[in-house]
Amino acid sequence: MALELDDDPRRIDVAAVHDYLANQSYWARGRPYEVVERLVREAQRVVGVYDDGRQVGFARAFTDGVSLVYLADVYVLPEYRGQGLGVRLVREMVDNGPYADIRWVLHTRDGHGLYRKVGFGEPSERVMERG
Ligand SMILES: CC(C)(COP(=O)(O)OP(=O)(O)OC[C@H]1O[C@@H](n2cnc3c(N)ncnc32)[C@H](O)[C@@H]1OP(=O)(O)O)[C@@H](O)C(=O)NCCC(=O)NCCS
Repeated sequence: MALELDDDPRRIDVAAVHDYLANQSYWARGRPYEVVERLVREAQRVVGVYDDGRQVGFARAFTDGVSLVYLADVYVLPEYRGQGLGVRLVREMVDNGPYADIRWVLHTRDGHGLYRKVGFGEPSERVMERG
């Protein structure tokens, strides 16, 4: 297996990302293809995981570039899980990109263990959210 991570947005297989998000994710079920395409296009950074060119993982970040970065749409395909790719993907996004030094925020249902490994913790009492 030739697994690699790449932050080139032109390499993202939007159809594959859309298929996972719209049909398998718990947070973006039914998201239209055009919306996924726009979100990939307008993201400040995307990271893909590839196995011989096949898109097997993805993460997206958007930011004002100064005060806050939001991490979204993180996934690794089921058959590739449990071998450290999730941590590598998030670490590449968070630590190796241009936004390593600003505040990152995310939402997750059960990925807390993964994100703790790359420096995320519980939000402070200063955080508010409008649902
Ligand atoms: C969460 C996810 C990206 C992890 O990918 P992965 O390649 O299996 O992750 P890793 O092998 O690097 O494991 C890192 C840690 O992630 C956590 N983890 C692994 N699989 C997990 C799962 N299915 N659900 C939640 N957390 C998981 C564990 O804490 C693990 O630590 P451990 O090895 O000490 O047990 C992957 O399970 C996934 O795509 N899940 C479905 C989509 C999702 O929930 N995305 C996150 C939305 S916020």
